[in-house]
Amino acid sequence: MASITLNNIKKTYEDGVTVIENLNLEIKDKEFIILVGPSGCGKSTTLRMIAGLEEISDGELKIGDKIVNNVSPKDRDIAMVFQSYALYPHMSVYKNMAFGLKNRKVPKEEIDKKVMAAAKMLDIESYLNRKPRALSGGQRQRVALGRAMVREPSVFLLDEPLSNLDAKLRTEMRSRISMLHKQLGTTFVYVTHDQTEAMTMGDRIVVMKDGVVQQFDTPQMLYNHPKNMFVAGFIGSPQMNFIDCMVKRKGENYFLSFGNYEIVLPNRMNDYLVMYDNKEVVFGVRPEDLSIVKGKDEVNSFDLYVDIAEMTGADYYLYGTFNDKKIIANVPSNNNIKSDKKYKFKIDIDRIHIFDKINERLICD
Ligand SMILES: Nc1ncnc2c1ncn2[C@@H]1O[C@H](COP(=O)(O)OP(=O)(O)OP(=O)(O)O)[C@@H](O)[C@H]1O
Ligand SMILES: [Mg+2]
Repeated sequence: MASITLNNIKKTYEDGVTVIENLNLEIKDKEFIILVGPSGCGKSTTLRMIAGLEEISDGELKIGDKIVNNVSPKDRDIAMVFQSYALYPHMSVYKNMAFGLKNRKVPKEEIDKKVMAAAKMLDIESYLNRKPRALSGGQRQRVALGRAMVREPSVFLLDEPLSNLDAKLRTEMRSRISMLHKQLGTTFVYVTHDQTEAMTMGDRIVVMKDGVVQQFDTPQMLYNHPKNMFVAGFIGSPQMNFIDCMVKRKGENYFLSFGNYEIVLPNRMNDYLVMYDNKEVVFGVRPEDLSIVKGKDEVNSFDLYVDIAEMTGADYYLYGTFNDKKIIANVPSNNNIKSDKKYKFKIDIDRIHIFDKINERLICD
């Protein structure tokens, strides 16, 4: 059993600054969990507390059923992989991978079996006699993974393991790590600030900001039902558009009014909007939920002057400004689009998100 439970975890560093006030997480056995958030939000601190490399100021940390606050890192049955690889430069790949087991006095034949099995899985068998300096970044990172694997831990902790690699290698290593997780069937906790990594790899994702969990959910839920504007803006690329508007009611229907435009909201939103009649809110719409329309007076549409049209291959990213706010639309490249031209965009109202302007929480979507 390698579930991980954080109950009311607090972290105050020696300088007296509290970076995590009250963190609660329940990570299930065998889950692939991603911690994601902007720089300084407390991802590494959280991971290092789970690893036992950082003291926990208050609260309770459990691995399986056991409280481990005071258990030393080597007795926690975990292995950690760092961004910097942290390989021993004077040792061969084989020795780097065998080192931990040798220290634990594991018999030679057993070490050999484990190192060879890990090397095979990671496709680094032909480098076993090389020193780390004779390897590429991606190969070094695989050695670091291998060194963690041979210990057969029940939890893998990975702190931005791919951030030193170029884009192509990152993509390759991403799927390799996902495969590894499937094959090993152990719990993975993976830190990144790359939301593509988060979305593609995680069973569930913890979105953090300033030491506080904003949402802990599946990638699909984070993308389609973000609980606040921070999550909505953080997950998804290009970013969700946010437009200030006013809620209006006419008879049975609610509208959002912005500039000279009005959009009609679906009736299922009515109950949520009662408190917001005549109040300012923010509506969010993802770039792909805006589409170009040719007709004259399409409902739920607005005019946008496209400053720049970027062709990415399959899509165009269209950048414009509406009421002083940047707007991005993502439309298929089979449209024939030019920069410096005005287009009419239709908003897919089944895909919009309405947020409270003050506390930035979701009202309805
Ligand atoms: N040893 C320390 N003493 C005091 N403050 C620290 C210490 N280590 C980290 N911090 C502070 O704690 C906060 C969280 O740091 P942490 O390293 O956990 O962030 P992170 O989310 O991993 O960021 P990044 O994406 O940049 O790696 C930051 O404000 C950081 O300055
Ligand atoms: Mg970090």
